[in-house]
Amino acid sequence: MNYNPFSLAGKMVFVTGASSGIGRQTAIECSKLGAKVIITARNEERLQETYNNLQGDGHSMVLADLTTSEGLDNIVSVVSELDGIVLCAGRAMTSPFQFNTREKYDDVFNVNFFSPVELLRLLVKKKKIAKGGSVVFVSSVGGVLGFTLGNSIYGASKAAINSTMKFCARELAPKKIRVNSVNPGMVNTPLIKGGTISAEQHQADMERYPLKRYGEPEDIAHGIVYLLSDASSWVTGHSLVIDGGITI
Ligand SMILES: NC(=O)c1ccc[n+]([C@@H]2O[C@H](COP(=O)([O-])OP(=O)(O)OC[C@H]3O[C@@H](n4cnc5c(N)ncnc54)[C@H](OP(=O)(O)O)[C@@H]3O)[C@@H](O)[C@H]2O)c1
Repeated sequence: MNYNPFSLAGKMVFVTGASSGIGRQTAIECSKLGAKVIITARNEERLQETYNNLQGDGHSMVLADLTTSEGLDNIVSVVSELDGIVLCAGRAMTSPFQFNTREKYDDVFNVNFFSPVELLRLLVKKKKIAKGGSVVFVSSVGGVLGFTLGNSIYGASKAAINSTMKFCARELAPKKIRVNSVNPGMVNTPLIKGGTISAEQHQADMERYPLKRYGEPEDIAHGIVYLLSDASSWVTGHSLVIDGGITI
């Protein structure tokens, strides 16, 4: 029996931030569910590693820095008509509020907010999204709650995404394009490992989670797959929280 409402067979799915973490796992899961996948990031070696792990054929990769107009233009010119778009590239920054500078805001907002929003705008304008298409922003519970200290810049960039997602959902609905976001809690990826928080502090933080663990990239990828698939065809403008219960 082949019944699978979450199948992505026949869909062309584009994933940013695919050289690592959640984006990488999302690309791999999409390929396992039958999608043809176009992946992008800046680091060629890590992106190639993701590419090598995709199942099936017909996939492609494009190197681009999403904070540059050349990078965005290049993507928009090379992609074919897309059924799914996963805007996952992002960066973290921990900075106590009193040390926040305009430069820090610019650095984080350029990657987390302006890049995905401008990329989506260009894809819409150039009619690169198929009727029935699905757009998924990768946001964060940090965009909804101030639940960790020193994350006001990051949280603001994700709150801006959550808001933009809702306006896009309203405005693109007449084109039959759905727009949603996923809001993960802490997920085990390189993003949470490079900062000032020690492994012991992470372990203590995990205890605050009702399910007593951080997420794995698969936990988020599966939510994204749902939003890309026809199983969610009546869902738009929604922020799907995937967080082990931390925001209960
Ligand atoms: N991990 C968590 O706890 C967590 C929680 C909530 C939300 N999120 C969100 O989930 C998304 C993915 O995070 P992750 O944890 O998977 O992080 P990650 O492992 O550090 O991956 C980040 C990805 O973004 C790409 N990227 C960063 N800057 C870029 C740029 N200027 N141009 C193109 N690509 C760029 C990186 O690729 P290159 O370096 O190769 O360019 C990489 O593929 C982010 O939006 C993050 O905010 C993560």
